[in-house]
Amino acid sequence: MNKFNFKFKKAEMTDAELLFAWRNNIKARQYSFNKTELEYTEHIEWLKNSLANKNRHILIIENDELKIGVLRIDIINDKLEVSIYLNPELYGQGYGAKILEMGIEYAKENFPEADELEGKIMIDNVASQKVFLKAGFIEKYKVMAYKLK
Ligand SMILES: CC(C)(COP(=O)(O)OP(=O)(O)OC[C@H]1O[C@@H](n2cnc3c(N)ncnc32)[C@H](O)[C@@H]1OP(=O)(O)O)[C@@H](O)C(=O)NCCC(=O)NCCS
Repeated sequence: MNKFNFKFKKAEMTDAELLFAWRNNIKARQYSFNKTELEYTEHIEWLKNSLANKNRHILIIENDELKIGVLRIDIINDKLEVSIYLNPELYGQGYGAKILEMGIEYAKENFPEADELEGKIMIDNVASQKVFLKAGFIEKYKVMAYKLK
């Protein structure tokens, strides 16, 4: 039991609406690698495929009263990649770092052979960078982009 009294459960199709609302929130989209507003039917297809994908783990973090956020871990070519987003009503209360700490524990337990957990964050997503640093991540490399258009 951690101090925030969080539990997690594996996402199911019944979580589709919740995940859709959180993921489609304007702030979550602003910092996502895919910024377009999602269609519900696309989202359902994505969730169905994701739940069937053994290389993807989607966890809903909750406590007795609230649904807090979502944690996704993808296995990509022997590497683990983590992504989080919160219930938008709970931004700014320190939940992000706690969710990430749960993700670290989950990764250690479920992928004991893995060396590292990586997170990719937009350069202007300062809140997320702070949350990752607080949870113990270090900055490892930067991706440079040149605008051609
Ligand atoms: C990013 C996210 C997980 C952050 O979680 P959170 O717990 O709400 O984080 P907070 O708002 O408490 O911010 C964390 C820190 O960043 C600071 N911060 C927040 N917004 C900031 C900004 N625009 N500029 C500078 N610092 C900022 C906070 O003051 C806080 O600092 P502190 O730890 O020194 O107090 C959450 O906002 C979220 O789900 N966003 C949408 C999805 C997303 O961006 N996910 C991450 C993709 S990898």
